Amino acid sequence: MGNGNINYCHEENEVRTLIWDRASLKLIDQRKLPFKEEYVVCNTCREVAGAISDMVVRGAPAIGVTAGYGVALASLEFSGHGRDKFISYIKDSIKVLSKTRPTAVNLFWVLGRMEKVLDCSKNLKLDEIKINLAKEAEKIERQDLNINFKIGENGKKIFDRYKNKIKILTHCNAGALATSGYGTAIGAIRSLDREGKIEKVIVDETRPYLQGARLTSWELYKEKIPFHIITDNMAGYFMSKGEIDAVIVGADRISLNGDTANKIGTLGLSIMAKYYSIPFYIAAPISTIDTSIESGKYIPIEQRGENEVREVMGTKIIPEYMPVKNPAFDVTPCGNITAIITEKGVIEPPFKENIKKIVTSADNTDKETGADKR
Ligand code: MRU
Repeated sequence: MGNGNINYCHEENEVRTLIWDRASLKLIDQRKLPFKEEYVVCNTCREVAGAISDMVVRGAPAIGVTAGYGVALASLEFSGHGRDKFISYIKDSIKVLSKTRPTAVNLFWVLGRMEKVLDCSKNLKLDEIKINLAKEAEKIERQDLNINFKIGENGKKIFDRYKNKIKILTHCNAGALATSGYGTAIGAIRSLDREGKIEKVIVDETRPYLQGARLTSWELYKEKIPFHIITDNMAGYFMSKGEIDAVIVGADRISLNGDTANKIGTLGLSIMAKYYSIPFYIAAPISTIDTSIESGKYIPIEQRGENEVREVMGTKIIPEYMPVKNPAFDVTPCGNITAIITEKGVIEPPFKENIKKIVTSADNTDKETGADKR
């Protein structure tokens, strides 16, 4: 593992987040987990956009990969004539997809890649462009899986110096369900577990959407990694008792200075971790770094519907006449982050300088090898 040229593949019996069959995209319905393992079938780009907005699929890399297939589906469903009409149809579809969720930058990164394929296809026949769009989406999915294995390997190395088994707290779901497979933060945890280094994973339930309680725990249970679930307000207690050796979470967008947007509640965890001198790691692909923004204050934060707060799994707990708010993400300042684990290596402070270096070297390697940024 760790060799840039190795191609990883899905493991036997792995439950797949998304399945593309070149005519439709099947998504495991994450709204129903862990109680039901059902797939939603998307035959059109609009259905894909709906599935992203409605959280059938969620998690920054998975949203990006799904959107890539959304563009591929748009090209297949085009029944008009003429390349200009085709191109404007695809561009409109990209616009629709770009409106689904604002915070995870992977969505925009993938849509940019798909648009580039379109822009480079000026001299091709429509059928050839359609094939190229599907190929690009498939490549993005493959690359994402490879990246996650590498993040896992790099994450594992951080803990080489720990003699004993470790207790890791994670928030939200940054696992296979949030990616093409394996996961980022959960990828690191999987790699550590395979070396026998995990004593326990402490899973934050992650209100309001319960990605921790419903999704992360489901993945860990399936993989037989020891864990227990806590409500979000218990994390400080476990930290104060020495029950947490490190925190590892994923990211939706990282600005140039290292400020990191992730699921609401991550900021509070980082503050508590700093207070108790517990290392706080972000695990994310390079494509989650948005070098166009200097700091976290420019990251758009999605405000989601009130019902997610008013209800728990469809049961009302807050009456309509009581006001609620539902920001889906918060920004952890770079000063609270120990390091960012990426597929290209571990980025330590000073983040701005080191992020620039790793992003530039990633760009150069890709130019040399002819590969894309991932
Ligand atoms: O609202 P969600 O479920 O899409 O939020 C997901 C997260 O915040 C994840 O931690 C993040 O996307 C990283 S996933 C590898």
